[in-house]
Amino acid sequence: MRVQTGIPGLDSLMEGGLEEGSITLVSGKTGTCKSIFSTQFIYNGAEKYKDKGLYITTGETIENVRKQAKKFGWDLDTLEKKNMIKMIEIEPFDVETLMDRIMNNVESLKARRIVIDSVSMFELYIHEPFKIRKFLYKILQRLRDMNKIVVVTSEILEDTKSLSRSGVIEFMVDSIIVLQYLGMTKYNRSLSIRKMRMTNHSTDIHPLIIGPTGIHVRTV
Ligand SMILES: Nc1ncnc2c1ncn2[C@@H]1O[C@H](COP(=O)(O)OP(=O)(O)OP(=O)(O)O)[C@@H](O)[C@H]1O
Ligand SMILES: [Mg+2]
Repeated sequence: MRVQTGIPGLDSLMEGGLEEGSITLVSGKTGTCKSIFSTQFIYNGAEKYKDKGLYITTGETIENVRKQAKKFGWDLDTLEKKNMIKMIEIEPFDVETLMDRIMNNVESLKARRIVIDSVSMFELYIHEPFKIRKFLYKILQRLRDMNKIVVVTSEILEDTKSLSRSGVIEFMVDSIIVLQYLGMTKYNRSLSIRKMRMTNHSTDIHPLIIGPTGIHVRTV
């Protein structure tokens, strides 16, 4: 079964939405709207589709995520009070307790949509790459087995062609959406679907526009 992101223009490019039990990586350089995309996915989920959503932030404070959301008129506070969404901030230091903390929150909220923004922080802080890969693999696999719809973001450094900082996460996910800053006059931003397992998806580069109520994708 597919769930709609509710991001205007996007769902029609991928057979109607993201598949249950799938992990989508939203990858892009700094300032390419990864966090806006993630927040809009969780907000729409709760507001339009009655899906409970857990937003896990590592890079940014919850306060900043809320502020950005308010700019677009998304009332996260009310949804949180209604127990439709939960936002947690994690520090990527202690991998052992992190697994329990994330799983406990997923279970207590009964979240259907889960965002981790971003996984790059793990790659930065943990000096044992093997341990972090194992952790990421395990947590993503557990969420997949639970049929959740998961979006994780990853930063790409300027001047590289890879899809993430470590070059590893892209192989753990089912789908990859790439956000780019093109620096052109008419359309500065773009979105493309790099892979999406078992889906007849668009392979074009689509203009991504930031409007007064969030982002949307131009399809023609
Ligand atoms: N209200 C707005 N109107 C127009 N553009 C905006 C608005 N709010 C944010 N932006 C643009 O969106 C960008 C930030 O998007 P976002 O925080 O989602 O990027 P990101 O990919 O998560 O970046 P990072 O890698 O630094 O976390 C800003 O740099 C700005 O260019
Ligand atoms: Mg961000």
